[in-house]
Amino acid sequence: MRRILMRKWIVAGNWKMHNTIAESIALARAIKEGFSGSANGEVVVAPPFTALSAVGDALKGSAVRLAAQNMYSEDKGAFTGEISPVMLKDAGCACVIIGHSERRKFFSETDDGVNAKVKKALAAGLKPIVCVGETDEERVQGVTQSVVGRQVRGALAGVEKLDDVVIAYEPVWAIGTGKVATSAQAEEVHAFVRGLIRELFGAAAEELRILYGGSVTKDNVAELAAMEDIDGALVGGASLKPDGFLGIIAKMP
Ligand code: PGA
Repeated sequence: MRRILMRKWIVAGNWKMHNTIAESIALARAIKEGFSGSANGEVVVAPPFTALSAVGDALKGSAVRLAAQNMYSEDKGAFTGEISPVMLKDAGCACVIIGHSERRKFFSETDDGVNAKVKKALAAGLKPIVCVGETDEERVQGVTQSVVGRQVRGALAGVEKLDDVVIAYEPVWAIGTGKVATSAQAEEVHAFVRGLIRELFGAAAEELRILYGGSVTKDNVAELAAMEDIDGALVGGASLKPDGFLGIIAKMP
C-alpha cells in the first residue's frame, strides 16, 4: 500500500531494433486506443530513432509518453552517427533509456559513459531510465550485489537530484530468454538498490522508481508487481504486440 501511494508504477516498452515507421505508428495507435490513462501508473514506449517523431505524433493527446533507447552525451558536434538529447527533446521524447545491457555488451558502454549520459539527459530535461544488472556468470559467482552496486554508483556519480531518475534492474540472464527472475530474486536486488540509494541520497530513495526488466509478460507481471520495491516493468519482447503490452498495463497495481 505504502508503495502505491508513494510511487506510481511505470510500464515501459523497449522496442529495440524492431519496427519500421509504419509498423511503429500502428503499434503506437493500438496502445493509445487501449490505454486511456491511469491514476496509478505511467506508460512509456521507446521506438527506434527513425520512428520517434512519427510515434510522438501518433501518441498526441494520449497519456503514453515517448522515450529513446539511447543518446550521446553531447548536445551537438562532429559525432557521426550519434543522436543528442536536444534532438530527442525535439522529437518529442520525455525519457531516455541509458546503459541497457545490450549497449554495454555490444557497444562497449562503460559505467563512466553511462554516467556522462545520465548527467547530460538530466541537464537537457529528459528522464533517464538507467539499466543495471548482472550476467548469469556473475550471479553464479555470487557477485550480483557488487556488480549492480558498482553500476548504480557509477551511473549516479555526481548526480545531485534523483527526482527525474528511474532505475531498471534487468538481470542479463533474464533478457529475451523467457527466464524471468522469480519475484523473490528480483525483490532482493531491488531492496538492495533502494538501500544503496538511501545511503547515497537519503530520503529521496523512497520516491525512486525501480523497474524490473527481463522476460516480463502479462502472465508473470502481477507476481512481480506485488513486491514492495518493484515499481514497474521494462518490457522488450512482450511490448511488440498490442495484446502483450496492454495485458501488462492492465495488471499495473
Ligand atoms: P525482454 O527484454 O522483455 O525481451 O526480456 C527486456 C529488456 O531488454 O528491456
